Amino acid sequence: MASERFIIDGGQRLQGTVEVSGSKNAAVAAMAASLLVPDECYLENVPDIGDVKFMARVLESLGAEVERPSPSTLRLRAAHITSFSPPTEQVVNLRASFMVMGPLLARFGQAACSPPGGDVIGQRPIDVHLAGFSAMGADIRHQEEKFMAQAKRLRGARLFMDYPSVLGTQNLMMAATLAKGTTVIVNAAAEPEIVSLAEMLNRMGACIQGAGSHTLEIEGVDALHGTSQRIIPDRIEAGTFAIAAAITGGDVRVCGVEPQHLYSLVSKLREAGVQVDEGEGVLHVRGDGQLAAVTIQALPYPGLATDLQAPMAALLTQARGVSYVHERVFENRLLYVSELRKMGAEVISTGTTAIISGPTSLIGTSVRALDVRAGAALVLAGLAARGRTVISDIYHLNRGYQRLDGKLRSLGASIQSA
Ligand code: EPU
Repeated sequence: MASERFIIDGGQRLQGTVEVSGSKNAAVAAMAASLLVPDECYLENVPDIGDVKFMARVLESLGAEVERPSPSTLRLRAAHITSFSPPTEQVVNLRASFMVMGPLLARFGQAACSPPGGDVIGQRPIDVHLAGFSAMGADIRHQEEKFMAQAKRLRGARLFMDYPSVLGTQNLMMAATLAKGTTVIVNAAAEPEIVSLAEMLNRMGACIQGAGSHTLEIEGVDALHGTSQRIIPDRIEAGTFAIAAAITGGDVRVCGVEPQHLYSLVSKLREAGVQVDEGEGVLHVRGDGQLAAVTIQALPYPGLATDLQAPMAALLTQARGVSYVHERVFENRLLYVSELRKMGAEVISTGTTAIISGPTSLIGTSVRALDVRAGAALVLAGLAARGRTVISDIYHLNRGYQRLDGKLRSLGASIQSA
């Protein structure tokens, strides 16, 4: 049976080297992209985590073949697609499952999907996806619980995204690869996961320019072909380990990272008094236990990632002075505040801002992981706390972090799963 709880005995200073896994969010996007072609797509450096397993099930429900020749590779083949609509009970598990819409619509002219699930961190609408498909000529209907999209062949269009949505940009970019004519996406997301998907699609024969900026230009082609792709390092996992080093006053080399993807985090860590040295593929993070309060704002890339907002809040409970944490991406991503308060943190939340006074001596107690990143914040708090912290509902953490407990143990943490 899968473990349900992490038990952490806090107070250990983390030391050593940790290797970061492949990016969760880049992997699930690459998996969706395999639906664009009947050929094989081969993915390397795929993290062995819950969300990749969920996405594999979604693809299999459509008739795609998914094999895992080794723990970090995936072989995907969408030669015999038998359904254009994943079952609702799978879609509600994983927000990324809505990304099957773009490729199916582009390749087969039809796709249907229920509104996706995922972490409860805000309303998380899908209007920008649907508006984009519609502007490319798809007929969109809402039938029973599903959105159905149909188009003989999508046509290129100029799209303005109300919000630079990450999944929205990926969905529309994939749809546009096989459209007739040129698509321009204005106000596109610029996250590294968008760039890595664009690189994969271009290697499949697509013609995408501008990835990494807020304007993408995609010239549609008649067909794409299979490819292989190495998944980029998980910048959120890397950031979590960097913060773990800082919160324990430790000395950790976080390896296998792309330091330029973590520029915003590194800047804020340095401002808080953490020593961070960047090398090729490495962040060397050292804390001396003396942290200063800072203000952070979670924003679309290259701003500080919303996925690191809760972990940074845990760190700031140990900083001297008053820190302000502004969440600007999701409207409900401060639920972890009540859990941190149970551990003795002096933190209040006013909607999308948390105000943290520190430093406080955290004390271990029983808390709940409310979503993957809120759970990560509690693990970090547990590492810094006096006594034993018991975190329940850790399935959230297993969705996004590969062997988090094992990696932390290798750095000297006392963390067990039970
Ligand atoms: N939004 C809209 N309309 C839409 C789509 C989004 O208004 O049609 C708004 C949302 O309400 C939200 C904002 O846009 O306020 C950002 O949402 P976005 O669509 O960018 O998020 P996402 O694509 O659903 C991905 C990651 C998240 C990450 C966000 C922001 C994947 C699978 N998920 O979600 O990752 O927090 O981008 O960077 O790529 C995580 O890994 O823990 C996680 C939640």
